[in-house]
Amino acid sequence: MKRPVAAFAGLGTFLPKGVLTNADFERMLDTSDTWIRERTGISVRHIASREETTAVMAREASIRALHEAGLDPLDLDVIILSTATPDRPLPSVACDLQALLGAKNAAAFDIGAACTGWLYGLVVAESMLAAGFAKRILVTGSEKLSAITDYTDRSTAVLFGDGAGAAVVTASDGTRGILAAHLKSDGTLAELLYRPGGGSTEPPSEQMLKNRSYFIKMAGREVFKSAVRSMADAADRALEQAGISGEQVDLLIPHQANIRIIEAAAEHAHIPMERVVVNVDHTGNTSSASIPLALDEARRSGRLQPGMTVLLVAFGAGFTWGSILLKW
Ligand code: ACO
Repeated sequence: MKRPVAAFAGLGTFLPKGVLTNADFERMLDTSDTWIRERTGISVRHIASREETTAVMAREASIRALHEAGLDPLDLDVIILSTATPDRPLPSVACDLQALLGAKNAAAFDIGAACTGWLYGLVVAESMLAAGFAKRILVTGSEKLSAITDYTDRSTAVLFGDGAGAAVVTASDGTRGILAAHLKSDGTLAELLYRPGGGSTEPPSEQMLKNRSYFIKMAGREVFKSAVRSMADAADRALEQAGISGEQVDLLIPHQANIRIIEAAAEHAHIPMERVVVNVDHTGNTSSASIPLALDEARRSGRLQPGMTVLLVAFGAGFTWGSILLKW
């Protein structure tokens, strides 16, 4: 097993106070609490207010991560922010976060890898540390999915929530941190989960508003099948790299999209559900914020303990997927 180069020095998360419950959706759409819970495992999702932008939620999570790491924003060399919901098309949200934190010594850029984005960010941070480019890197995942969710479309409206997570990543002491990582993509399947309008292919127009093409469109069944297959494969690859089996994993922390996807991925990796962190019931799918939110929750509840072997696995639009094996 390789000696870890990068480790977490601090972790912080943020969930807005506002919520949408299944009962709210029963009033808004032709749906039911039973259908939503049985098909997705979701009961509640947090919804950001107008003031709680993607950058503001990232700031809240980042302040907590920096505090835990005992660092000041001025100590940061790089800010990496993963999001599918930038506050503006230009500039990057990472630059807004840099300004909000007053992180005057940091480079800042966004990563667009949807729900896998936080894992992509961690691998980029690890590489920057290994190359000697940076010493202290903030890796955030912040999502205001409520801004791009079509609340008239019952097949997507019930799935998504808002939130943010952040980690300060620094050099490992060699005993804990990232042990293995695997990242992949398949852009030929992009149109199974995408936002067609609002970019340079279909710039904002009256037609775009009429078509509602600036909202997320998803072929749910196809996404479901690809998510299960790809998350299972990603889990295998990280375990293979580290030369361990699923039985040796203490905690599996999968992207929280749907309880059925999580159960299928866990079964494939031979990890019983007692060792799987699930919080999708009260967060919904928060895309790249989902893994840090679940990780933080596991830690605060006492389930995640120092020295544990933890497998993170994600899948998202692109398609992108990946895994990271950690010694916590
Ligand atoms: N309430 C009631 N009925 C609904 C709802 C709803 N909210 N949404 C869809 N239905 C209906 C459909 O209209 C359909 O009705 P019909 O048979 O009369 O046509 C029926 O339920 C079955 O629809 P399916 O789409 O086949 O249902 P499925 O069992 O596949 O569940 C779901 C749908 C939950 C979206 C599932 O496909 C899924 O979870 N896919 C993964 C999608 C996902 O998580 N994407 C997030 C982004 S990617 C990621 O983060 C991994």
